[in-house]
Amino acid sequence: VPVFLVGAGPGDPDLLTLKAYRILQSCDVVIYDRLVSDAVLAVIPDAVERIFVGKEKDRHLLPQAEINQLLIAQARLGKQVARLKGGDPFIFGRGGEEMLALREAGIPVTVIPGITSASGCAASIGIPLTHRELADSVQFITGHSRQDGTLEIDWPRIATPRTTLVFYMGLSHLAAICTALTQHGLSPDTPACIIQEGTRPGERVCTGTLATLPGLAVEQALTPPALLVVGSVVGLRE
Ligand SMILES: C[S@@+](CC[C@H](N)C(=O)[O-])C[C@H]1O[C@@H](n2cnc3c(N)ncnc32)[C@H](O)[C@@H]1O
Repeated sequence: VPVFLVGAGPGDPDLLTLKAYRILQSCDVVIYDRLVSDAVLAVIPDAVERIFVGKEKDRHLLPQAEINQLLIAQARLGKQVARLKGGDPFIFGRGGEEMLALREAGIPVTVIPGITSASGCAASIGIPLTHRELADSVQFITGHSRQDGTLEIDWPRIATPRTTLVFYMGLSHLAAICTALTQHGLSPDTPACIIQEGTRPGERVCTGTLATLPGLAVEQALTPPALLVVGSVVGLRE
C-alpha cells in the first residue's frame, strides 16, 4: 500500500478534496502537523490513530529526518498511512523531501494535492491573484529566513509591476520584505495585505500599502499562520 501525502487545504474542511476526505475516512493512521486545522482533524473518524509531528518555528518538535523515518516505520508496519499537511504538500510543505525519503525506502507514494493557502486565502477575501488588467503572473515566495536570519530572495527578479507576490511565512520579516521591495523599485503605494488564519474561524485581514502595512500589522498584533499578498490586485478587495 502506498503512503498518501495528503493536502489538507488552508483550514476550512469544506476545502478538502473528495479524495483527501475519502483517504482520511479509510486510513489506519494520520500523521499531521501544526498547520492542519482543528476543523479538518474533526472529520477524521475516532478509530483512526493520530500522530502529531507539529513544527514550530525555531523549535522543531520533530526534525524532518525523524518525520521521514516515522513515515517509513509506520508504512512498514503494514498500516495505511495518511501524511496530512496544511495546504498543498508540494508548496513549501516539504512534501518533496518526504516523497523522496519514502521512495528511497522502496515505499510507493501517492500525492493528493490540496488547495494551497495562497489560493484559499485570496479566494476567501476576494482577491483575484492574476486579474487580467492588473497582473500577468503570480509568484509564491518563502519569507522564511536562512540560519543566519537573512532572506534568500532575488529582489530585482520579483520586484516587478504586474506581478502579484504571495509570501508564505513572511510575517516575522514583514518590515524587511516591504522595505526591500520598495528599494528595488516597487512604489511604496503598492497595495498589500496580510491574511491571518485564512478560511478559518479566526480569519483576520489587514490591508495597507508597502509603506503602511508593517506598522498596521504591529498595531493589530497579527500572528501566524499568515500570508502576505503584494500587488495591485489587492486593491480589488473592496
Ligand atoms: C510551511 S508553509 C506551508 C504551506 C502549505 N503547504 C500551503 O500550501 O499552503 C506555512 C505557511 O503557509 C501559510 N498558511 C498556511 N495556511 C494558512 C492560512 N490558513 N492562512 C494564512 N496563511 C496560511 C502561512 O504563511 C504559513 O506560515
